[in-house]
Amino acid sequence: MASNALELDDLTVTYISRTRRVAAVRNVNLTVKHHEIVGLVGESGSGKSTLAFAVMRLLTNAQVTGRVSVGGQDILSLDPEALRRFRWNTISMAFQSAMNALNPVMPVWRQIADTLKYHQPHLSDAEVRQRIKELADLVRIDPARLQSYPHELSGGMRQRVVIAIAIALHPSVVIMDEPTTALDVVVQRSLLENITAIQEQTGFSIIFISHDLSLVTELADRIAIMYAGRIVELTPAATAVQPDTRHHPYTQGLLAAIPRLSDETVVIRGIPGNPPDMAHLPSGCPFAPRCPQRMDRCQDEEPALRAAEIGQIACHLFD
Ligand SMILES: Nc1ncnc2c1ncn2[C@@H]1O[C@H](COP(=O)(O)OP(=O)(O)O)[C@@H](O)[C@H]1O
Ligand code: SF4
Ligand SMILES: [Mg+2]
Repeated sequence: MASNALELDDLTVTYISRTRRVAAVRNVNLTVKHHEIVGLVGESGSGKSTLAFAVMRLLTNAQVTGRVSVGGQDILSLDPEALRRFRWNTISMAFQSAMNALNPVMPVWRQIADTLKYHQPHLSDAEVRQRIKELADLVRIDPARLQSYPHELSGGMRQRVVIAIAIALHPSVVIMDEPTTALDVVVQRSLLENITAIQEQTGFSIIFISHDLSLVTELADRIAIMYAGRIVELTPAATAVQPDTRHHPYTQGLLAAIPRLSDETVVIRGIPGNPPDMAHLPSGCPFAPRCPQRMDRCQDEEPALRAAEIGQIACHLFD
């Protein structure tokens, strides 16, 4: 068994169209260990989904460079047939919008069955039925509900179906892209708890993508903070919210935006300003225009991700 479940080396993704180039993911290095949950956190547009799609090799209009290795297998070099065997069996993804991920005119049990049969054609009908029953148990859906069409299910149920499809073939890595974002808080909590239980039981690794840092700290072992296509901080989840830990100024902004239950009056402070236009990145640190701690050198020198006291941080304050 390879030492890490997933390794990204210098992963760079550039969307290319006739009129412009967007460097949506830039020089990302990340390892995910076996059984580890890594939270990938950043504002909308920071490149989280692009990273996920690149790892799954689902991008068609983009240039992808660097190395993506899953269980020791270099997946950027796989031919289409090898990729078909590999995708879903070894690494899978639960997509951001369950409504778009599911076929509206097909009962959900058939969508699970089709995934199983497409990726493991040797399975008998009885084996497929058995596996669907196991999956329904894992994601806590009454098997009878699987006769429904997607629109007949609640948002939380649909997301459970999407997760069932993602884990159907026992992958070693599952990427979950904002799986709980569209759900209300109670449903969100129950789904998170379900994901944790399934992961403990089956042991796969997870990249859990979210724009919500407080949610991710509850679930993840480590957190990767993304800004303007780069990972700007890698930190253990256990210390992320401790007040005496030093963080990247962007992470500090995200932490300050988390309301604390102990506060009598909850003041939610967002980070002023907007993320940069990824088609026209400024020189220097991309966070500089919004950074309360910027220095002269931040305007023209982009900081690299380096080992910090805890984890890794890309900021000149930590050089
Ligand atoms: N198909 C595409 N073609 C061109 N640019 C894209 C495409 N998809 C996303 N982008 C751009 O890439 C950047 C990162 O987007 P995305 O990966 O969706 O971020 P996130 O998932 O963090 O919200 C954004 O600037 C977005 O506009
Ligand atoms: S490098 Fe400079 S501008 Fe960027 S986050 Fe650090 S202090 Fe702020
Ligand atoms: Mg996204």
